[in-house]
Amino acid sequence: MTDKNASEQAGKNPNTSIYVFWLVLALPLIGLLANKYILHGKPNFFIWTGEISTWLLIVSMLVTPLKLMFGPLPWLQTRRRHIGVAAFFYALAHLAFWLKEVNMPDILRSFVRLEILPGWIAMAIFTILAITSTDGWVRKLGTGWKTLHYWVYPAAALTFIHWAMTRPNAISVYVYFAPLLVLSVWRILRYRRRMRGI
Ligand code: HEM
Repeated sequence: MTDKNASEQAGKNPNTSIYVFWLVLALPLIGLLANKYILHGKPNFFIWTGEISTWLLIVSMLVTPLKLMFGPLPWLQTRRRHIGVAAFFYALAHLAFWLKEVNMPDILRSFVRLEILPGWIAMAIFTILAITSTDGWVRKLGTGWKTLHYWVYPAAALTFIHWAMTRPNAISVYVYFAPLLVLSVWRILRYRRRMRGI
């Protein structure tokens, strides 16, 4: 079921409250800005935007397995694409804050750093997915849209590697990704059972 159908089934105009939802997605950034400019704190925008992006990515990817488990979740399905696009913008901000701190040799070196290269590749994939996330692209690509957007799985795996490798202690990274991993394995097993007609 497409996002649009899901919202129609829920009897709602897909645009209703979408601006409020964008605002909710922007709240972590607003919080960081408030911390810096009102509370005069020193939040690390670079680290926080990277983490927020990953959390949103995980939430957006949990929607499909949750739908398969519990049946249609129109509210969440309608907003999945927005969550994915917000994850992209936080990743873009993460990259921008990093670029602000480094010089050209650092940037060039980052392409051969094993922990940073997965970040670059993930970012390239997210950029294509974000550009093609509009209704126009959904229509233009037809069934190919879904196939293209399956690339979110390799991109998430690369993000996981990037995050785990840049952290001295990666336990929390495993904890964040665990629900996604468990539900993805469950999905694969479910698919294989169905193929075998069990
Ligand atoms: C575009 C290319 C990217 C570059 C050049 C890059 C760069 C970096 C660097 C240098 C670090 C290490 C920070 C440190 O501990 O000093 C880092 C950490 C991180 N990056 Fe990226 N990154 C990229 C893409 C991404 C993407 C696409 C995501 C998420 C979707 C992401 C999420 C994170 C997270 C969560 C961390 C760990 C933050 C922490 O320490 O908790 N990065 N990144």
